[in-house]
Amino acid sequence: MWFNTLESPPLPNLMKEIHIEDLDLVITTINKQLYCFENRCPHEDIKLSLGCVQGNEIKCALHGYKFNLVSGLCVDDDIHPLNTFQAKLKDGLVSIQIEEADK
Ligand code: FES
Repeated sequence: MWFNTLESPPLPNLMKEIHIEDLDLVITTINKQLYCFENRCPHEDIKLSLGCVQGNEIKCALHGYKFNLVSGLCVDDDIHPLNTFQAKLKDGLVSIQIEEADK
């Protein structure tokens, strides 16, 4: 199911926190592409929005692990992947796809 969220995409490489139902999410724009991911590091429970976007990766502020925003995989270690979500611009709104199993 698609949820309409922001009225415009975040500026390039900036992160915007949003909430959909019980999910704490981040939306960012990299090279004109929208990315959405859970705002929680899979390593320990810290907000990834405290980190920084580098290329198409998010770097966690606590231990510096980086996660690919397409695959969700950690590029530094073999830990649980980051939850990522489909994001698109539709009718001028940023829409995020959330499945029932994601909630
Ligand atoms: S808490 Fe994010 S890398 Fe350790």
